[in-house]
Amino acid sequence: MTGDVLSTPNMAVSIGGGIVLKNPVMTASGTFGYGEEFSSHIDLSRLGGIVVKGLSLRPRAGNRPPRIMETSAGMLNAIGLENVGVEAFIAEKMKFLRTLGTAIVANIFGDTPKEYGSVAERLNDVEGVTALEVNISCPNVKTGGVDLGADPVMAGKVTRIVRKATDLPIIVKLTPNVTDIGVVARSVEEAGADALSLINTLKGMSVDIESRRPHLGNITGGLSGPAVKPVALRMVWEAVRAVSIPVIGIGGIMNHEDALEFLITGASAVQVGTANFINPAATIDIIEGMERWLENRGIADVNQIVGTLDLS
Ligand SMILES: Cc1cc2nc3c(=O)[nH]c(=O)nc-3n(C[C@H](O)[C@H](O)[C@H](O)COP(=O)(O)O)c2cc1C
Repeated sequence: MTGDVLSTPNMAVSIGGGIVLKNPVMTASGTFGYGEEFSSHIDLSRLGGIVVKGLSLRPRAGNRPPRIMETSAGMLNAIGLENVGVEAFIAEKMKFLRTLGTAIVANIFGDTPKEYGSVAERLNDVEGVTALEVNISCPNVKTGGVDLGADPVMAGKVTRIVRKATDLPIIVKLTPNVTDIGVVARSVEEAGADALSLINTLKGMSVDIESRRPHLGNITGGLSGPAVKPVALRMVWEAVRAVSIPVIGIGGIMNHEDALEFLITGASAVQVGTANFINPAATIDIIEGMERWLENRGIADVNQIVGTLDLS
């Protein structure tokens, strides 16, 4: 019989550190709030995982407006990492998140490497937190504001500090604003990361020609959406070849075809960001589209797709 071919494919994937997701589709940090905001739009329990808005030790107000600007194939944002702070997250947001039966990934950042360690330590024993995602695309005040993640030594240092501070699996989220992603990826792997995720936003800018002012209050911002997908895919490809830990692909994923490109290139899972602003059900559509795509080709397990890029 063709029973095997017609049955629903296995969608579960491992992303390192013992984490198993029910499917490879997660939400990207900063584009999905703390999950609850989307609960009236979609069944959150169907997601592979929810990555929450970046958390710092203390609450942050973020940058002055305007903070978002649409571009021809994406958007620029300069939110400035506004968030409720780790204490309010634990006290108010986790109550809901831990009931969902999906992986909950706490995205964290700090103003100093030490602060990353403090946030990681605070989250260590919190019931329902599956893993930490460490956002190293943050300015290093000591070196004149160059992102921590643009310096392989600093990237390794932050990872080591977080590693010491927690028993939770650590996903380190890389910035694309570097010349050689492989060097940063290796440094972070050596420092104890369980997985990598990439890319964060690409630094960009936009100008109002009448006022001759930058559109964003912060002058520069981070570019995301379809415009960045080819860059993201190329960087995932480079990272996959540089390390042996799992890589999670992010950047401009709008539909299941985009997501499959990342899996074929070697990503073990994906995160969906800007698409959530256009269609709050984008993640569910991607999961269902991917399932149908596999089913139609008689592929019984999504893992059979991962890393199958044909270079012959
Ligand atoms: C409005 C907005 C806020 C974001 N906030 C965060 C954040 O707090 N932490 C983080 O690591 N990435 C943040 N990101 C980056 C996304 O998680 C993602 O890496 C990036 O947008 C690329 O994916 P996309 O093209 O699917 O949006 C943010 C992106 C956007 C658009």
